[in-house]
Amino acid sequence: MSRDNLDSILREDRKFPPDAGFIGKARINRVALSAMQAHAERNLEEFWAGLAREELSWHRPFSEVLDRGQAPNFRWFADGELNASWNCLDVHLATHAERTAILFEGEPGDSRRLTYRELHGEVCRLANGLKALGIGSGDRVVIYMPMVPEAVIAMQACARIGAVHSVVFGGFSAHSLRDRIQDTGARLVITADGGHRGGKVIELKAAADKAVADGCDTVEAMVVLRRTGAPVAMQPGRDTWWSDLVADQPDQCPPVFVGAEHPLFLLYTSGSTGKPKGIQHSTGGYLLGAKLTTKWVFDLREDDVFWCTADVGWITGHSYVCYGPLAAGATIVMYEGAPSVPDGGRFWSICERLGVTVFYTAPTAIRALMKLGDDIPARHDLSRLRLLGTVGEPINPEAWMWYRDVIGGGRCPVVDTWWQTETGAIMISPLPGVTSTKPGSCTLPLPGVFADIVDESGEPVTDENKGGYLVIREPWPSMARTIWGDNQRYLDTYWARFDGRFYTAGDSAHRDRDGYFWIMGRIDDVLNVAGHRLGTMEVESALVAHPRVAEAAVVGRPHEIKGEAIFAYVVLRGDRPMGAAAAALTEELRAWVAEELGAIARPDDIRLTDNLPKTRSGKIMRRLLRSIARGEEISQDTSTLENPSILDQLRGEG
Ligand code: WTA
Repeated sequence: MSRDNLDSILREDRKFPPDAGFIGKARINRVALSAMQAHAERNLEEFWAGLAREELSWHRPFSEVLDRGQAPNFRWFADGELNASWNCLDVHLATHAERTAILFEGEPGDSRRLTYRELHGEVCRLANGLKALGIGSGDRVVIYMPMVPEAVIAMQACARIGAVHSVVFGGFSAHSLRDRIQDTGARLVITADGGHRGGKVIELKAAADKAVADGCDTVEAMVVLRRTGAPVAMQPGRDTWWSDLVADQPDQCPPVFVGAEHPLFLLYTSGSTGKPKGIQHSTGGYLLGAKLTTKWVFDLREDDVFWCTADVGWITGHSYVCYGPLAAGATIVMYEGAPSVPDGGRFWSICERLGVTVFYTAPTAIRALMKLGDDIPARHDLSRLRLLGTVGEPINPEAWMWYRDVIGGGRCPVVDTWWQTETGAIMISPLPGVTSTKPGSCTLPLPGVFADIVDESGEPVTDENKGGYLVIREPWPSMARTIWGDNQRYLDTYWARFDGRFYTAGDSAHRDRDGYFWIMGRIDDVLNVAGHRLGTMEVESALVAHPRVAEAAVVGRPHEIKGEAIFAYVVLRGDRPMGAAAAALTEELRAWVAEELGAIARPDDIRLTDNLPKTRSGKIMRRLLRSIARGEEISQDTSTLENPSILDQLRGEG
């Protein structure tokens, strides 16, 4: 279908019901969904308790379902005991040990296949190795790895012995890694010599060394996987090669059964203020959410090949690469590299060659690949695909339609899934065998999820298409438990807005006449750049850390592919250079931020200015800066500006 056709059929009221063939085989049909919804309405605790007993294997059954005693620090299944790795691996050994667990492809083209038996063995060997290093239950382990099977093995090995992992995305800088190591107080870092990404080698060990050299006293050991073969410096007494560590370890390791509330992992994410916060997830409730939603939303069956393209450094890679699909006994695909290597057909080539049936990716990737033209996917046989998903940011209807028609051949349901690091699992999404989809809407909450939209005073917004705060009224098992080391911040960020009455997601949304949810975006100072959350303040702090920078203000502007781009206004110490000197300095500042935070935070635009627009009380006028960055007419009242003449400079005209 040509682009013109796509545009002409763009109407928000287009609706795509699932086709009869899909409905007939779907795990959840209309009748099953109604029954689940009625059950959740009638008795929410009983609803979740039943699922927790059916879906998870408990070492010690729980007697209490939900403990509201310290609300909003809710506790689920608290006196039950289980092990997450047992639930992802051991439970499958009796019935399908030889089923493929992981189909891996490296960026250079190397490939591997691990059955559930092999994955179990590798996880046990590493778990034994970690124990030999003195790591035990409750210890924090930071994982800084490329997207190779060992990343999942490391996470599962931690879970097996009750250690709490914190995965740091391999694209983050040494600085960001250091901050996270320090906040977790990790005893161990698991990394690799490097990884392949975008045709380059990303030197992870070097970054890890730099991070640890800078005040990470808690780190006693570093385990290093050999991936690229590039030479690295090994520090005697501290560093061990992964292969040496596991060489003599047995491939059996009894799991450490932990309480359901035992932290499974910490994952750092950006907020509007301060440093990234360590979102703490539980073992029992989290795993239940990840497993159930994998089965419900992706309709997973035994013969499915499921590919979620997210890196394990993000929550999507936790819930839909490492935990959910393995708990569900699925075959997953892992790909190490960039979608553009060797050309923009890599994703489609992998889908074809590995027989991917369910594919889950981000709108930013869809938009980037769409731009390359329809003939690239047309070169590949995508007929095995039966379901497509998206996550991370609002998807524009044009990209949604392209995904459905060009990638899905018009036959695959598209599930637009709304959720967050904090929710642990998908919350609002179509169920592919039931829900009619609309391009750009994540449709309706899943069973057991009481999502709503409220106004400033917390009253439900019932008017069609009127925006408000997206909130969740009732606790759910996979919800974040706290912010590591800062429960007050957890309460302030997610619960204070409406006096603890409901969880505030930080997104605005509206509903249409069918009650479908449309996510409009963040209401705080959080940017969503290519599906990655970034606090404007983080980028501002990185900028002012540069010796030449006195002050900085960062806003977002719409970007065709990344969704949002980073626009920074910078006030220098001393004179403002012009011409080539200004261009050189802005380049230096962009590189500086990439070095401080990681390449994803590199500002797209930097505008040097003598002043920032401030009200008389000294507040930066962010809305004004946003309008200017977007090239919009200025509608704000500028009469309160301390220095109205700076408007021309901010527009880049002075
Ligand atoms: C946004 C990613 C629109 C939203 C799983 C949310 C979305 C933030 C969608 C969480 C979607 C996620 N439609 N917006 N389907 N999914 N978002 O923590 O603003 O990296 O608050 O979790 O991404 O980002 P996070």
